[in-house]
Amino acid sequence: MTQIRFAAVLAVLLAIAGLPYMARAADVDEETTQANNQCLACHSEEGLKNPPRADMNLKGLARLLVSGERFAQSVHGEEACKDCHGDSYVQYPHVGNSRYQIKTCPDCHKTAGREKLAQFQQTLHYKNHPLAFTCTSCHDPHALQKPKQLGSAKRVAAQDNTMCRDCHDSDYRWGQFTTRPRPNLVKTHSWQPNPELHWQSVRCVDCHTPPQEQGTSHLIVGKDKAERDCAACHSASSSLRTRLYRYFAEQELEKQGFVNAAIMGQAYVVGATRNAWVDWITWGLTALMVGGLGLHGLLRIIAAMVRKGRH
Ligand code: HEC
Ligand code: HEC
Ligand code: HEC
Ligand code: HEC
Ligand code: HEC
Ligand code: HEC
Ligand code: HEC
Repeated sequence: MTQIRFAAVLAVLLAIAGLPYMARAADVDEETTQANNQCLACHSEEGLKNPPRADMNLKGLARLLVSGERFAQSVHGEEACKDCHGDSYVQYPHVGNSRYQIKTCPDCHKTAGREKLAQFQQTLHYKNHPLAFTCTSCHDPHALQKPKQLGSAKRVAAQDNTMCRDCHDSDYRWGQFTTRPRPNLVKTHSWQPNPELHWQSVRCVDCHTPPQEQGTSHLIVGKDKAERDCAACHSASSSLRTRLYRYFAEQELEKQGFVNAAIMGQAYVVGATRNAWVDWITWGLTALMVGGLGLHGLLRIIAAMVRKGRH
């Protein structure tokens, strides 16, 4: 019990440490907000219900909705729609072949974008489907959130795994790329216990990409090179330190000895951290608990003897 309570205290401290990352107030300038609201006046659920114009292709519009709320919270929430879509969308009817004028990711993300592009081009996704498979097959530029902003490893895993599963678990989307049968994900991963449980806590890319110093490698590897060593994660030197857990102020986590506690699950396991103080405190609390129980037992024995003596 004491250990569980101790773990709860640690969890609360961890949550408090994470707060600054969640409170990322978007200071979007007034002009951008107004311009974006003009687009959203049509391209939103609200716009579809109350179209600002009578002469619109509503059927077409219904497939082109963007959530303004999610957009505002996304990594691109401070951008103007027209920064990516260009000026030709500002007037309606939209002019020209504007669909092909959307800026590409590396247009703005000059370093990271080009690095990802080079890695992505070495994957089967790209090699087998060079035209159909793009950055936006995985990333929704209108909703994507930063890992730190999401606040917990599980929520990052949910966002990142949804990218992959929306396609790998869908016959419809899979079928848009290939006639090859779609491998069942749970069956393919039955070599590990409870894959579904794992995917709540760990990302596809944590096993299917090689580790790299900064950011997430986009070199998705297949069954020959994917991680299958349990100890790669379930050990004191877990590879997750430099992957999933890196988003949560790793140095601090490490300093406090939290990293392994997170991997080991809910319970605090003595020896699982490199912080000797935490271990000593836990031993101390355990000793107090055991001592307390011993004392309680001793008192009961004495009381029983006293009672017997009276009889
Ligand atoms: C008056 C309503 C209205 C406004 C304002 C509007 N759109 Fe559209 N948009 C539409 C409709 C309706 C379509 C569906 C296809 C069509 O009729 O052109 C569309 C289509 C699109 C498409 C898909 C085009 C394609 O080629 O498939 C994009 C992207 C788009 N709009 C972006 C924007 C952006 C960005 C803005 C703001 C700068 C904007 N729209 C403003 C109504 C609007
Ligand atoms: C960071 C760049 C970026 C920003 C900012 C952005 N978009 Fe887009 N948008 C894209 C890309 C890229 C696509 C093409 C997605 C694809 O290929 O499926 C797209 C597609 C669309 C589409 C067509 C949807 C579809 O399914 O084909 C609409 C409508 C749209 N955006 C509206 C907006 C509106 C409204 C805003 C502002 C609130 C906005 N976008 C802001 C990059 C952006
Ligand atoms: C018009 C320029 C522009 C385009 C085009 C653009 N972005 Fe961004 N992106 C930004 C800006 C500005 C930020 C915010 C900078 C920051 O927070 O680091 C950002 C932030 C991000 C982030 C979070 C920052 C990070 O490195 O973790 C991701 C991920 C991202 N963009 C992905 C994309 C993807 C994928 C595309 C293509 C679909 C794209 N962007 C297209 C301007 C752009
Ligand atoms: C838009 C659909 C789509 C998305 C999104 C997607 N995949 Fe795929 N993936 C495919 C298809 C289709 C293939 C089969 C390619 C082929 O055989 O032509 C594939 C193949 C693979 C393979 C086998 C590749 C090999 O080299 O043997 C792996 C592993 C994989 N995907 C992992 C992922 C991961 C991890 C993600 C998310 C980060 C992801 N996929 C996102 C459609 C998708
Ligand atoms: C714990 C590590 C791990 C995680 C997490 C993981 N995979 Fe895998 N994956 C593997 C290994 C190892 C294999 C090879 C299995 C085998 O022996 O066939 C594999 C096989 C695959 C294959 C078949 C590849 C091929 O070449 O035929 C696909 C597709 C795939 N994974 C996609 C995913 C997706 C999508 C996710 C996230 C939902 C995911 N994986 C999560 C390790 C992992
Ligand atoms: C197969 C799916 C997939 C494709 C395709 C893909 N990405 Fe990513 N990308 C991811 C995942 C998963 C992350 C994980 C981290 C996160 O949540 O930010 C990521 C992260 C990023 C980041 C954040 C920085 C980092 O290193 O973590 C950027 C920037 C980015 N991608 C750009 C791109 C660009 C540009 C392309 C196209 C050349 C692209 N991505 C294609 C899945 C994909
Ligand atoms: C990519 C990293 C990774 C790999 C590889 C991996 N695991 Fe896990 N595993 C995790 C994470 C993260 C959790 C969730 C821990 C938590 O949040 O409690 C987990 C949870 C578990 C659990 C459930 C523990 C509990 O709290 O109930 C078991 C059992 C398990 N893993 C066994 C294995 C085995 C056996 C292998 C090898 C066949 C393996 N794992 C490979 C990361 C991994």
